Amino acid sequence: MNFLSLLESKRDGAVLSESQLQSIIAATVAGEIPDYQLSAFLMAIYFRGLNAEETRALTLAMRDSGEVLSFPADGRPVVDKHSTGGVGDKVSLPLAPLLACLGFRVPMISGRGLGITGGTLDKLESIPGFRTAQRREEIIQIVQSVGCCIVAQSEKMVPADKRFYALRDVTATVPSIPLITASILSKKLAEGLDALILDVKWGRAAFMQTEKKARQLAKGLCELGRACNVQTEFILSDMNVPLGTHAGNWLEVVESVEVLEGRGPSDTRDLVLDCAARLLVMTQIEPRRGAALTRAKNCLDSGAAREKWNEMLAAQGADLTAFEAKLRAPSPVYEVEIRAAQGGIIRDLDARIIGEIVRDLGGGRLRADSILNLEVGFSAMKKPGERVEKGEPLALLRADNEDAARGVWEVARAAWEIAS
Ligand code: URA
Repeated sequence: MNFLSLLESKRDGAVLSESQLQSIIAATVAGEIPDYQLSAFLMAIYFRGLNAEETRALTLAMRDSGEVLSFPADGRPVVDKHSTGGVGDKVSLPLAPLLACLGFRVPMISGRGLGITGGTLDKLESIPGFRTAQRREEIIQIVQSVGCCIVAQSEKMVPADKRFYALRDVTATVPSIPLITASILSKKLAEGLDALILDVKWGRAAFMQTEKKARQLAKGLCELGRACNVQTEFILSDMNVPLGTHAGNWLEVVESVEVLEGRGPSDTRDLVLDCAARLLVMTQIEPRRGAALTRAKNCLDSGAAREKWNEMLAAQGADLTAFEAKLRAPSPVYEVEIRAAQGGIIRDLDARIIGEIVRDLGGGRLRADSILNLEVGFSAMKKPGERVEKGEPLALLRADNEDAARGVWEVARAAWEIAS
């Protein structure tokens, strides 16, 4: 294959054939294309796009770039949820064990942080000992016995997405509908799913800035998912304001545990329950929406999902004693309160500013080889609609050291708009 001429073709807006896209993916996985050429290819797709046929061919070639899972029929539907990425979006963490308790099997293949949005794998790796690089046999064994696992694309599973994902993150090529579609569906189709719910975000901290664009992405994802025999539906959700009260890898694990214990902020809890209820309806386990929601709520509040979470952590190598100890006494970092400059009602909280600060403090990547600080971020964030007095804390900021915190403090405060 002459990759340079294919690169030129896409740069000039040509349509690539299925076999050309398959060759590109095979060469990508074999390490035959250097990062600079692949980055240029991704940028060409970013500007020129891919039509529906090219998107389908790319997705399937990426799915087949590694092992594909299949599960024995045992009466439990194989399901998953995937989000297009947001700030404070930790829904996958409590959702996977909740779904397992509701009678599903969940072989969730997730991603790392992308742009300013957080990544499920980075969050989970803040848990002592937790491993995300399981082999196919191990994934199947954990899913069959525990009911859920959350793992990474790897050299074995969807390796083409692993390579593209890391490059897109640092080459400003994430917000492309065909690239997002291929990235998400290649992973989800490799899971051997019966049903999939997609949480497609829109707003200033999402890859799709408008609801119209998000709907376009969602419809394309659903059409392709269904064409590949996976029952697929979507939710559109607003990503102008962070989800929940915590943003930052470890801090989002903390909020997830709160939700699993029947506590936690209502927006995170509601989205977790909504995803679970939709999957109950889609798979006809509970065909009526109201009853499905009640079933999901009762299950979450029973504490069963919290126990299932620990079971999943243990199955993936986590040190539960160290994890519970870290929940009680988090790793020491510098902490400072962001205080309100005036009293009033919070009118807005800019998720983009929050996401950028978490990334710049070391919670996300600026380069492919960035080493993350998984402890930094915001907790106890006050949200729009809440009243604050002058000088009252708007959030607690955790940074590596005092200088790092001082460097972002004023910008952080400007993320909150307070109406007198
Ligand atoms: N999630 C993914 O897995 N890939 C994307 O491109 C965006 C969100």
